[in-house]
Amino acid sequence: MGETIGFIGGGKMAEALICGILKAGLRGADGLAAVDPDPGRREALASGYGIRVYAQAADFVADCATVILAVKPQVMGPVLAGLKGLLSARHLVISIAAGIPLSFLETNLAGCDCRLVRVMPNTPALVQEAASALSAGRLATGEDLATARRLFDAVGRTVVLPESYLDAVTGLSGSGPAYVFAFIEAMIDAGVKVGLSRADAQLLTLQTVLGSVRLAFSTGLGPAELKAMVTSPGGTTIAGLHVLARAGFGGVVMDAVEAATWRSQELGGGK
Ligand SMILES: NC(=O)c1ccc[n+]([C@@H]2O[C@H](COP(=O)([O-])OP(=O)(O)OC[C@H]3O[C@@H](n4cnc5c(N)ncnc54)[C@H](OP(=O)(O)O)[C@@H]3O)[C@@H](O)[C@H]2O)c1
Repeated sequence: MGETIGFIGGGKMAEALICGILKAGLRGADGLAAVDPDPGRREALASGYGIRVYAQAADFVADCATVILAVKPQVMGPVLAGLKGLLSARHLVISIAAGIPLSFLETNLAGCDCRLVRVMPNTPALVQEAASALSAGRLATGEDLATARRLFDAVGRTVVLPESYLDAVTGLSGSGPAYVFAFIEAMIDAGVKVGLSRADAQLLTLQTVLGSVRLAFSTGLGPAELKAMVTSPGGTTIAGLHVLARAGFGGVVMDAVEAATWRSQELGGGK
Protein backbone atom coordinates (compact mmCIF):
# COMPACT_ATOMS: atom_id res chain seq x y z
CA MET A 1 0.00 0.00 0.00
CA GLY A 2 2.95 2.39 0.46
CA GLU A 3 3.86 4.82 3.21
CA THR A 4 1.64 7.44 4.83
CA ILE A 5 0.64 10.59 2.99
CA GLY A 6 0.24 13.51 5.39
CA PHE A 7 -1.82 16.62 4.65
CA ILE A 8 -0.89 19.95 6.17
CA GLY A 9 -4.28 21.68 6.11
CA GLY A 10 -7.44 19.61 6.01
CA GLY A 11 -9.69 21.95 3.99
CA LYS A 12 -11.54 21.58 0.69
CA MET A 13 -8.58 20.64 -1.51
CA ALA A 14 -7.16 18.17 1.00
CA GLU A 15 -10.58 16.52 1.26
CA ALA A 16 -10.87 16.31 -2.53
CA LEU A 17 -7.46 14.62 -2.73
CA ILE A 18 -8.19 12.27 0.17
CA CYS A 19 -11.42 11.25 -1.53
CA GLY A 20 -9.67 10.65 -4.89
CA ILE A 21 -6.74 8.76 -3.36
CA LEU A 22 -9.08 6.43 -1.44
CA LYS A 23 -11.33 5.88 -4.48
CA ALA A 24 -8.32 5.11 -6.68
CA GLY A 25 -7.00 2.67 -4.04
CA LEU A 26 -3.60 4.45 -3.90
CA ARG A 27 -3.79 4.29 -0.09
CA GLY A 28 -6.22 2.93 2.48
CA ALA A 29 -7.53 5.22 5.23
CA ASP A 30 -4.72 3.96 7.50
CA GLY A 31 -2.22 5.39 4.98
CA LEU A 32 -3.57 8.94 5.19
CA ALA A 33 -3.27 11.58 7.92
CA ALA A 34 -4.03 15.29 8.20
CA VAL A 35 -3.37 18.20 10.52
CA ASP A 36 -5.80 21.10 10.84
CA PRO A 37 -6.30 23.64 13.61
CA ASP A 38 -10.09 23.45 13.24
CA PRO A 39 -11.61 20.64 15.37
CA GLY A 40 -14.64 20.64 13.04
CA ARG A 41 -12.45 19.85 10.02
CA ARG A 42 -10.58 17.14 11.95
CA GLU A 43 -13.87 15.54 12.96
CA ALA A 44 -15.23 15.75 9.39
CA LEU A 45 -12.15 14.02 7.93
CA ALA A 46 -11.94 11.38 10.67
CA SER A 47 -15.62 10.45 10.56
CA GLY A 48 -16.03 10.91 6.79
CA TYR A 49 -12.95 8.98 5.63
CA GLY A 50 -11.54 7.17 8.68
CA ILE A 51 -8.12 8.84 8.33
CA ARG A 52 -5.91 9.86 11.26
CA VAL A 53 -6.20 13.52 12.24
CA TYR A 54 -3.97 15.71 14.37
CA ALA A 55 -3.91 19.19 15.87
CA GLN A 56 -0.13 19.47 15.41
CA ALA A 57 2.13 18.51 12.52
CA ALA A 58 4.86 17.39 14.95
CA ASP A 59 2.63 14.45 15.97
CA PHE A 60 2.76 12.68 12.60
CA VAL A 61 5.04 14.24 9.96
CA ALA A 62 7.99 12.00 10.88
CA ASP A 63 5.87 8.94 9.93
CA CYS A 64 4.98 10.29 6.47
CA ALA A 65 6.87 9.65 3.23
CA THR A 66 4.85 12.28 1.37
CA VAL A 67 3.64 15.57 2.82
CA ILE A 68 1.07 17.66 0.94
CA LEU A 69 0.96 21.36 1.75
CA ALA A 70 -2.73 22.24 1.39
CA VAL A 71 -2.97 25.48 3.37
CA LYS A 72 -3.84 28.92 1.99
CA PRO A 73 -0.90 30.78 0.43
CA GLN A 74 -1.16 33.55 3.08
CA VAL A 75 -0.18 31.17 5.91
CA MET A 76 2.50 29.26 3.99
CA GLY A 77 5.41 31.22 5.58
CA PRO A 78 4.56 30.35 9.21
CA VAL A 79 3.53 26.81 8.24
CA LEU A 80 6.94 26.18 6.63
CA ALA A 81 8.69 27.65 9.67
CA GLY A 82 6.84 25.11 11.83
CA LEU A 83 7.69 22.21 9.49
CA LYS A 84 11.36 23.03 9.01
CA GLY A 85 12.60 20.98 11.96
CA LEU A 86 10.32 18.06 11.05
CA LEU A 87 11.21 17.52 7.37
CA SER A 88 14.28 15.76 6.01
CA ALA A 89 15.71 14.23 2.83
CA ARG A 90 13.34 11.26 3.19
CA HIS A 91 10.27 13.45 2.60
CA LEU A 92 8.61 14.24 -0.70
CA VAL A 93 6.81 17.56 -0.16
CA ILE A 94 4.06 18.57 -2.59
CA SER A 95 2.65 22.10 -2.50
CA ILE A 96 -0.70 22.98 -4.08
CA ALA A 97 -0.72 26.60 -2.86
CA ALA A 98 -1.56 28.96 -5.74
CA GLY A 99 1.19 31.45 -6.57
CA ILE A 100 3.81 30.09 -4.15
CA PRO A 101 6.95 29.42 -6.22
CA LEU A 102 9.37 26.55 -5.61
CA SER A 103 12.06 29.12 -4.72
CA PHE A 104 9.91 30.31 -1.76
CA LEU A 105 9.49 26.72 -0.55
CA GLU A 106 13.21 25.97 -1.04
CA THR A 107 14.28 29.12 0.82
CA ASN A 108 11.92 28.54 3.71
CA LEU A 109 12.83 24.85 3.99
CA ALA A 110 16.57 25.41 3.50
CA GLY A 111 18.61 22.69 5.14
CA CYS A 112 15.78 20.10 5.13
CA ASP A 113 16.92 18.62 1.82
CA CYS A 114 13.38 17.40 1.17
CA ARG A 115 12.32 16.83 -2.44
CA LEU A 116 9.73 19.36 -3.66
CA VAL A 117 7.01 19.25 -6.29
CA ARG A 118 4.70 22.20 -6.97
CA VAL A 119 1.22 21.53 -8.33
CA MET A 120 -1.33 23.95 -9.79
CA PRO A 121 -4.74 22.21 -9.67
CA ASN A 122 -8.13 23.87 -10.28
CA THR A 123 -11.52 23.92 -8.54
CA PRO A 124 -13.02 20.90 -10.37
CA ALA A 125 -10.68 18.88 -8.12
CA LEU A 126 -13.61 19.11 -5.69
CA VAL A 127 -15.47 16.63 -7.95
CA GLN A 128 -12.33 14.65 -8.92
CA GLU A 129 -12.10 16.41 -12.31
CA ALA A 130 -9.11 18.71 -11.82
CA ALA A 131 -6.76 19.88 -14.53
CA SER A 132 -3.38 19.96 -12.75
CA ALA A 133 0.11 20.97 -13.84
CA LEU A 134 3.10 19.62 -11.90
CA SER A 135 6.61 21.07 -11.70
CA ALA A 136 9.57 19.35 -10.08
CA GLY A 137 11.84 21.13 -7.62
CA ARG A 138 15.63 20.94 -7.78
CA LEU A 139 16.00 17.77 -5.70
CA ALA A 140 12.90 15.93 -6.92
CA THR A 141 13.56 12.70 -8.82
CA GLY A 142 11.65 11.19 -11.74
CA GLU A 143 10.10 8.75 -9.24
CA ASP A 144 8.96 11.70 -7.04
CA LEU A 145 7.26 13.29 -10.03
CA ALA A 146 5.64 9.95 -10.92
CA THR A 147 4.39 9.59 -7.32
CA ALA A 148 2.94 13.11 -7.35
CA ARG A 149 1.37 12.51 -10.73
CA ARG A 150 -0.38 9.34 -9.55
CA LEU A 151 -1.95 11.33 -6.68
CA PHE A 152 -3.27 14.10 -8.95
CA ASP A 153 -4.36 11.66 -11.68
CA ALA A 154 -6.68 10.34 -8.94
CA VAL A 155 -8.52 13.69 -8.97
CA GLY A 156 -8.47 14.46 -12.71
CA ARG A 157 -5.90 14.87 -15.47
CA THR A 158 -2.29 16.05 -15.24
CA VAL A 159 0.54 17.56 -17.25
CA VAL A 160 4.19 17.94 -16.19
CA LEU A 161 5.81 21.27 -17.08
CA PRO A 162 8.77 23.42 -16.08
CA GLU A 163 7.72 25.92 -13.40
CA SER A 164 8.16 28.82 -15.84
CA TYR A 165 4.89 27.69 -17.50
CA LEU A 166 2.78 27.83 -14.33
CA ASP A 167 1.66 31.44 -14.87
CA ALA A 168 0.26 30.34 -18.24
CA VAL A 169 -1.37 27.34 -16.55
CA THR A 170 -2.89 29.71 -13.97
CA GLY A 171 -4.26 31.92 -16.78
CA LEU A 172 -5.67 28.94 -18.71
CA SER A 173 -6.86 26.14 -16.42
CA GLY A 174 -6.52 27.85 -13.03
CA SER A 175 -8.83 30.71 -14.00
CA GLY A 176 -10.50 28.60 -16.70
CA PRO A 177 -13.49 27.38 -14.69
CA ALA A 178 -14.62 31.03 -14.31
CA TYR A 179 -14.52 31.55 -18.09
CA VAL A 180 -16.51 28.36 -18.60
CA PHE A 181 -19.09 29.48 -16.02
CA ALA A 182 -19.32 32.92 -17.67
CA PHE A 183 -20.03 31.14 -20.99
CA ILE A 184 -22.58 28.84 -19.33
CA GLU A 185 -24.32 31.83 -17.71
CA ALA A 186 -24.50 33.63 -21.06
CA MET A 187 -25.88 30.49 -22.76
CA ILE A 188 -28.60 30.19 -20.11
CA ASP A 189 -29.57 33.87 -20.52
CA ALA A 190 -29.61 33.30 -24.28
CA GLY A 191 -31.97 30.36 -23.83
CA VAL A 192 -34.29 32.57 -21.79
CA LYS A 193 -34.02 35.28 -24.47
CA VAL A 194 -35.31 32.85 -27.11
CA GLY A 195 -38.23 31.78 -24.92
CA LEU A 196 -37.11 28.85 -22.76
CA SER A 197 -37.67 28.70 -19.00
CA ARG A 198 -34.51 29.37 -16.96
CA ALA A 199 -34.64 25.85 -15.51
CA ASP A 200 -34.87 24.21 -18.93
CA ALA A 201 -32.19 26.52 -20.37
CA GLN A 202 -29.86 25.65 -17.48
CA LEU A 203 -30.33 21.89 -17.84
CA LEU A 204 -29.89 22.00 -21.62
CA THR A 205 -26.79 24.22 -21.35
CA LEU A 206 -25.05 22.18 -18.64
CA GLN A 207 -25.72 18.88 -20.40
CA THR A 208 -24.54 20.37 -23.72
CA VAL A 209 -21.22 21.44 -22.16
CA LEU A 210 -20.78 18.12 -20.32
CA GLY A 211 -21.70 16.05 -23.39
CA SER A 212 -19.43 18.07 -25.67
CA VAL A 213 -16.44 17.58 -23.35
CA ARG A 214 -17.16 13.84 -23.04
CA LEU A 215 -17.46 13.59 -26.84
CA ALA A 216 -14.08 15.29 -27.28
CA PHE A 217 -12.37 12.96 -24.79
CA SER A 218 -14.03 9.77 -26.01
CA THR A 219 -13.49 10.35 -29.76
CA GLY A 220 -10.08 12.00 -29.44
CA LEU A 221 -11.19 14.40 -32.19
CA GLY A 222 -10.09 18.05 -32.14
CA PRO A 223 -12.56 20.93 -31.67
CA ALA A 224 -12.46 21.91 -35.36
CA GLU A 225 -13.59 18.43 -36.46
CA LEU A 226 -16.26 18.22 -33.76
CA LYS A 227 -17.54 21.67 -34.71
CA ALA A 228 -17.74 20.63 -38.35
CA MET A 229 -19.91 17.65 -37.31
CA VAL A 230 -22.70 20.03 -36.14
CA THR A 231 -22.25 22.65 -38.85
CA SER A 232 -24.28 21.79 -41.97
CA PRO A 233 -24.00 24.04 -45.05
CA GLY A 234 -26.34 27.02 -44.84
CA GLY A 235 -27.74 25.70 -41.53
CA THR A 236 -28.49 27.10 -38.09
CA THR A 237 -25.11 26.43 -36.45
CA ILE A 238 -23.06 28.28 -39.07
CA ALA A 239 -25.41 31.25 -38.66
CA GLY A 240 -24.67 31.28 -34.92
CA LEU A 241 -20.93 30.72 -35.42
CA HIS A 242 -20.85 33.64 -37.87
CA VAL A 243 -22.09 35.98 -35.11
CA LEU A 244 -19.46 34.65 -32.66
CA ALA A 245 -16.70 35.13 -35.26
CA ARG A 246 -17.87 38.64 -36.17
CA ALA A 247 -17.85 39.63 -32.47
CA GLY A 248 -14.25 38.40 -32.13
CA PHE A 249 -15.11 35.53 -29.75
CA GLY A 250 -11.80 33.69 -30.28
CA GLY A 251 -9.76 36.85 -29.80
CA VAL A 252 -11.65 37.79 -26.64
CA VAL A 253 -10.97 34.37 -25.10
CA MET A 254 -7.28 34.64 -26.02
CA ASP A 255 -7.12 38.14 -24.50
CA ALA A 256 -8.73 36.86 -21.29
CA VAL A 257 -6.25 34.00 -20.86
CA GLU A 258 -3.34 36.32 -21.69
CA ALA A 259 -4.54 38.95 -19.18
CA ALA A 260 -4.86 36.33 -16.41
CA THR A 261 -1.39 34.99 -17.25
CA TRP A 262 0.11 38.49 -17.01
CA ARG A 263 -1.72 39.10 -13.72
CA SER A 264 -0.32 35.83 -12.35
CA GLN A 265 3.19 36.98 -13.38
CA GLU A 266 2.58 40.36 -11.69
CA LEU A 267 1.34 38.78 -8.45
CA GLY A 268 4.35 36.47 -8.40
CA GLY A 269 6.72 39.43 -8.71
CA GLY A 270 7.34 38.99 -12.44
CA LYS A 271 9.33 35.79 -11.97
N1 LIG B 1 -9.88 25.36 -3.81
C1 LIG B 1 -9.34 25.17 -5.02
O1 LIG B 1 -10.01 24.78 -5.98
C2 LIG B 1 -7.88 25.37 -5.27
C3 LIG B 1 -7.37 25.35 -6.59
C4 LIG B 1 -5.99 25.51 -6.79
C5 LIG B 1 -5.15 25.64 -5.70
N2 LIG B 1 -5.69 25.65 -4.43
C6 LIG B 1 -4.79 25.82 -3.30
O2 LIG B 1 -5.05 24.80 -2.36
C7 LIG B 1 -4.73 25.30 -1.06
C8 LIG B 1 -5.85 24.92 -0.11
O3 LIG B 1 -7.05 25.53 -0.56
P1 LIG B 1 -8.46 25.10 0.03
O4 LIG B 1 -9.48 25.65 -0.90
O5 LIG B 1 -8.45 23.65 0.40
O6 LIG B 1 -8.45 25.99 1.39
P2 LIG B 1 -9.22 25.73 2.76
O7 LIG B 1 -10.48 24.97 2.50
O8 LIG B 1 -9.29 27.05 3.48
O9 LIG B 1 -8.24 24.75 3.56
C9 LIG B 1 -7.08 25.13 4.22
C10 LIG B 1 -7.13 24.51 5.60
O10 LIG B 1 -5.88 24.70 6.23
C11 LIG B 1 -6.11 25.00 7.59
N3 LIG B 1 -4.95 25.64 8.21
C12 LIG B 1 -4.71 26.98 8.45
N4 LIG B 1 -3.53 27.13 9.07
C13 LIG B 1 -3.01 25.89 9.23
C14 LIG B 1 -1.82 25.41 9.81
N5 LIG B 1 -0.92 26.23 10.36
N6 LIG B 1 -1.59 24.07 9.81
C15 LIG B 1 -2.48 23.23 9.26
N7 LIG B 1 -3.64 23.63 8.71
C16 LIG B 1 -3.90 24.94 8.68
C17 LIG B 1 -7.33 25.90 7.53
O11 LIG B 1 -7.93 26.01 8.80
P3 LIG B 1 -8.71 27.42 9.15
O12 LIG B 1 -9.82 27.53 8.16
O13 LIG B 1 -9.15 27.19 10.55
O14 LIG B 1 -7.69 28.52 8.98
C18 LIG B 1 -8.19 25.14 6.52
O15 LIG B 1 -8.97 24.13 7.14
C19 LIG B 1 -4.54 26.81 -1.20
O16 LIG B 1 -3.17 27.13 -1.08
C20 LIG B 1 -5.02 27.14 -2.60
O17 LIG B 1 -4.25 28.17 -3.19
C21 LIG B 1 -7.01 25.53 -4.20
